[in-house]
Amino acid sequence: MTLLQSAFADVAKEVDLCFASALATPDDPRKRLFEAMRHAAIGGGKRVRPLLLTGVADMHGVDRAVSVRVATAIEAIHVYSLIHDDLPCMDDDDLRRGKPTVHIAYSEAIAVLAGDSLHALAFEILADPKTHGDAYVRSELIAALAQASGPHGMAGGQMMDLEAEHSRFDLPTVTRLQQLKTGALIASAVEMGAILARIAPEGRMALRGYARDIGLAFQIADDLLDVEGDEELAGKQLHKDADAGKETFLSLMGVEKARQQAHMLVEQSIGHLSGYGEEADLLRALARYIVERDR
Ligand code: IPE
Ligand code: IPE
Ligand code: MG
Ligand code: MG
Ligand code: MG
Repeated sequence: MTLLQSAFADVAKEVDLCFASALATPDDPRKRLFEAMRHAAIGGGKRVRPLLLTGVADMHGVDRAVSVRVATAIEAIHVYSLIHDDLPCMDDDDLRRGKPTVHIAYSEAIAVLAGDSLHALAFEILADPKTHGDAYVRSELIAALAQASGPHGMAGGQMMDLEAEHSRFDLPTVTRLQQLKTGALIASAVEMGAILARIAPEGRMALRGYARDIGLAFQIADDLLDVEGDEELAGKQLHKDADAGKETFLSLMGVEKARQQAHMLVEQSIGHLSGYGEEADLLRALARYIVERDR
């Protein structure tokens, strides 16, 4: 196993355990809500955001039990965003991470509530003194994740994505859409790692540059997979964007130019890490994986 593969396997196991203990299913009428949350959150998913967060934290010697809890909080936001993204009123998808989506396996109403509850769970974890003893660190983490999730981040990007179905966006506008929809949460994974590492904001520039570039590359890779990926490997329905008439990097610049752009962004992201030695090799490998992945 490569360094990257074993790091992915470790963090997947740790995040699964953390979700399992946070989501013990009660024997009362809320049972199906918990089951739906577990269905979406446990098992499956690449866990890219948790790996970014724990990777940055590990580089700076942060206690692993702490970074895994914070990584679970960001993954909870990501899973909630996927549940809602798949709803009939959004992308209307039946398959996610190789399993039926929550509204198919449970119901649309339960999918809405499971998303709401994972959203709340993220902030409950971050606000818990068990996660971090310093209230200042907790509030910095909460602010970073809140900003990345709301109208100035993921939700705002999803709004632009809806508009992208019937507006002709230019390249700067599509870039902004992708930065909000996907880039903001990816950037917050790196930022929250830096917060745990107690790096002062002015010392976070290299990591922020790295995060911005891989965030954009990540969504270009997702759009490339949508066009040329294998549904079996991806575990989700593909070939959706063009059918929906969505403006993406691919619709604007074509497959080859978009691929080149993604590779260029990855090289650029790795360039931001030049001040780090081999302790940043995991982040470098993760950057390369982001454009080479098949799922
Ligand atoms: C898919 O995210 C949705 C996007 C933001 C592009 P991932 O590709 O990280 O999905 P999982 O977590 O591995 O299922
Ligand atoms: C979703 O983007 C991004 C989110 C914020 C959930 P997509 O709609 O392209 O993600 P997939 O292709 O369904 O995973
Ligand atoms: Mg979508
Ligand atoms: Mg979708
Ligand atoms: Mg997609």
